Amino acid sequence: MKIIVTGGAGFIGGNFVHYMIEKYPEDMIVNLDALTYAGNLETLKSVEDKPNYKFIKGDIADRDFVFKMFAEEKPDVIVNFAAESHVDRSITDPEIFVRTNVMGTTTLLDACREFGIKRFHQVSTDEVYGDLPLDRPDLFFTEETPLHTSSPYSSSKASADLFVMAYHRTFGIPVSMSRCSNNYGPYQFPEKLIPLMISRALADEELPVYGNGANVRDWLHVKDHCQAIDLIIRNGADGCVYNIGGHNERTNLEVVKTVLRALDKPESLIKYVSDRLGHDRRYAIDPKKLETELGWKPEYNFDTGMQQTIQWYLDNREWWEHIISGEYSQYFEKMYGDRL
Ligand code: NAD
Ligand code: DAU
Repeated sequence: MKIIVTGGAGFIGGNFVHYMIEKYPEDMIVNLDALTYAGNLETLKSVEDKPNYKFIKGDIADRDFVFKMFAEEKPDVIVNFAAESHVDRSITDPEIFVRTNVMGTTTLLDACREFGIKRFHQVSTDEVYGDLPLDRPDLFFTEETPLHTSSPYSSSKASADLFVMAYHRTFGIPVSMSRCSNNYGPYQFPEKLIPLMISRALADEELPVYGNGANVRDWLHVKDHCQAIDLIIRNGADGCVYNIGGHNERTNLEVVKTVLRALDKPESLIKYVSDRLGHDRRYAIDPKKLETELGWKPEYNFDTGMQQTIQWYLDNREWWEHIISGEYSQYFEKMYGDRL
């Protein structure tokens, strides 16, 4: 089987490439990535010479490029991770989110129509369901929860989801979709909460917590996400959506304190800063469908997963120090300069 993984130089796509190359040496994994600020081939260094791996640099929203690439590669499966993924960036610059997340997805779907495909898998997010109130711990997102987005990021992802389902119904493209909660683990870009807090705590710098830190996220180790997607593309029903989550809800403050404890740093580093606009309060996934229909079970619990992740950032300083010393420092100044 030939699988094109778009966005394979990013956090989750990179972990997925490692996972698939290791698990299925008989399959060919083609990593298609535009190498935006979030794409990093250092993540793939240890697999770049493997016979079942190939990297192609390209933009999923570039129609001529995508059609030519489909004609040459003749993929069996597409797993679409490529996206602009950071909510804060979508608040300052929404347009690129429409281009990549919506038009990039429809361009790939058009190529699937033209050349045929066995399965198009869309990597979506729980953010398409909006948020849940903090005082209703009994409520969870199911696959039937209506789409109700808050940010330009989540609106672009929900829009892409609608196109995927429209191409399935209208043109009969075989598709599947997963909507996962917040991921953590190795190779996550340090703009996101956990690696941001690890890298700043190690430098004894202030940790910017939005609002009062009471917002809740439902954390899942990236390897458990990869396993779930693998199961869905092989055994998931055509045209179906699967929610992915491991019942690991934590307030942001709890997560930040976990990082500080693990690194033996003082809580006085925490700095409450002005809140994210439109900040979603709580995400919580009900993964029953994936568990009962496909037998998925997460391997990691949050405590051991976080210990391993923090150890990974300690053991791989070069990977992230390289990032934060580059153009990232201008990004940080722009986003946090007035707040810290
Ligand atoms: P990321 O930002 O780390 O990586 C995105 C990758 O896509 C980068 O390698 C980037 O170079 C590439 N890319 C961006 N624009 C492109 C384009 N036009 N053409 C080709 N490649 C392009 O993102 P991530 O956190 O790994 O998220 C991957 C996917 O998973 C996204 O679709 C995201 O919406 C979804 N998701 C993320 C999470 C999470 O917690 N991070 C949770 C659920 C779903
Ligand atoms: O739920 C899945 C989503 O999780 C994915 O679809 C997104 O691609 C991914 O980025 C993530 O979105 P979040 O907005 O939840 O992740 P982020 O790491 O940006 O923030 C997590 C929480 O921490 C959120 O409530 C905002 C807060 N936060 C974040 C940053 C960067 C802070 O308090 N301070 C910060 O500096």
